[in-house]
Amino acid sequence: MPNPMPNPETPTAPAAEPGAKKLFIKTYGCQMNVYDSERMAEAMGAKGYVLTDRAEDADMVLLNTCHIREKASEKLYSDLGRLRPLKLERPDLKIGVAGCVAQAEGAEIQRRMPLVDIVVGPQAYHRLPAMAEAKGPQVDTDFPPEDKFDHLPQRKSYRGPTAFLTVQEGCDKFCAFCVVPYTRGAEVSRPAARLMREARDLVARGVREITLLGQNVNGYHGEGETGTWSLGRLIRQLADIDGLDRIRYTTSHPNDMDDDLIAAHGEVPQLMPYLHLPVQSGSDRILKAMNRKHTRDQYFRLIDRIRAVRPDILMTSDFIVGFPGETDQDFADTMDLIRRVGYGAAFSFKYSARPGTPAAEKPPVEAAVADVRLQELQALILDQQRAAQAAMVGREISVLYEKPGRLPGQMVGKSEHLMAVHVEDPAGGVGDLVRARVTAAAANSLAAVPVGVSAAEQGIGAARGIVFRPAPIRRDL
Ligand code: SAH
Ligand code: SF4
Ligand code: F3S
Repeated sequence: MPNPMPNPETPTAPAAEPGAKKLFIKTYGCQMNVYDSERMAEAMGAKGYVLTDRAEDADMVLLNTCHIREKASEKLYSDLGRLRPLKLERPDLKIGVAGCVAQAEGAEIQRRMPLVDIVVGPQAYHRLPAMAEAKGPQVDTDFPPEDKFDHLPQRKSYRGPTAFLTVQEGCDKFCAFCVVPYTRGAEVSRPAARLMREARDLVARGVREITLLGQNVNGYHGEGETGTWSLGRLIRQLADIDGLDRIRYTTSHPNDMDDDLIAAHGEVPQLMPYLHLPVQSGSDRILKAMNRKHTRDQYFRLIDRIRAVRPDILMTSDFIVGFPGETDQDFADTMDLIRRVGYGAAFSFKYSARPGTPAAEKPPVEAAVADVRLQELQALILDQQRAAQAAMVGREISVLYEKPGRLPGQMVGKSEHLMAVHVEDPAGGVGDLVRARVTAAAANSLAAVPVGVSAAEQGIGAARGIVFRPAPIRRDL
């Protein structure tokens, strides 16, 4: 029987003990959900569950959902429909819905889909194991006073040399289009000492790159031993952990880029020269209507300051087209902003009216107009992305290997600028951090050879079988 829900996100589970219960998790949405899925897997692991990547083998299926756009949240219902035959065949199969749709719709999900046993909101994950053992339908969408992360087991497994670490959750910004303040609640920062401990544990398990996560990660203001720590402070302390070679953070709000964080980009070598700084629109009128609380000029000035301390930084962003009231001129301003900034990549979306948000009350832009704008914007971004990738050809970069490539002798990893790189390196292993020279660029990936390979060997395939390999480096700048 074909897998009803192929899931590339589920880590390959270690061989299960005979008789162990199996858990299938499908993750939608942002990296924070990926992190949460890992933590829920650990929590259920403590109850004897092991992960499976096939829903039809599972004793429990958990869908960790996203509510950000209508399409994202409707996916839940199509996936639940696909699970129906499995549930009919095996009524004791537990089906759980976690994440932002769970928070937004709560018990309504069970009314619409009675096959759902558990609905658990993002702040109640530590209660999942007890809910899984309880009889009858379970719903928990509380924002409990206790920190769920304190009540979840320590992270024991990791998937390789890179890891996410949630440092901050929730959002108080209330952009007019966005559901996050309602689904994730108010901004809460985790205490610095716990984060330092979790980071040290990850590094001890072989992690070399940590991406700090938060809906407004640069708004981080965690309790430290000596007063409140900002994100800049946290990054500087993390950089002191021996063996932590790379630090990234996402997603940032332009208004929270403080002086110390900007300075850290120029001073902390482990902080990668890459910044995702969503702007959404290039029109002052629309920025105001979106409640973003900054102007296009303020955004330009901010980027100038960041580039002054770190000229090679690669900027990426998010854009929404077709926000209610967006005129041709507003859209032209967005295109102009993109041309002026020059991005390495961007996510762009057609505005989706979300229930309960202020913008949803306003008359929408005609769908056909928004479609054309989206295509134009994506074409411009793709041009910029290609140019950024092509500019890497001939340059020496550092690559952290994450997995073997499809071709023999090939390793795949990420550059400092978060570009995917295929390296001809038969002696390479997952977790190596190597220097390599870029030989070719496509829109979404680079090809490279380890530095030290002669020019003659740099022909296609010629690097295979090389004896020399550079020593993995500790610091990559
Ligand atoms: N905290 C981040 C964004 C989180 S949501 C920030 O402030 O930038 C990720 C992206 O989804 C947003 O940047 C926005 O571009 C997009 N998005 C959010 N709500 C949307 C909506 N209602 N319609 C279309 N795109 C939306
Ligand atoms: Fe949503 Fe705005 Fe908060 Fe980002 S800053 S999560 S877009 S409300
Ligand atoms: Fe989606 Fe919730 Fe993340 S709405 S983008 S999963 S915070």
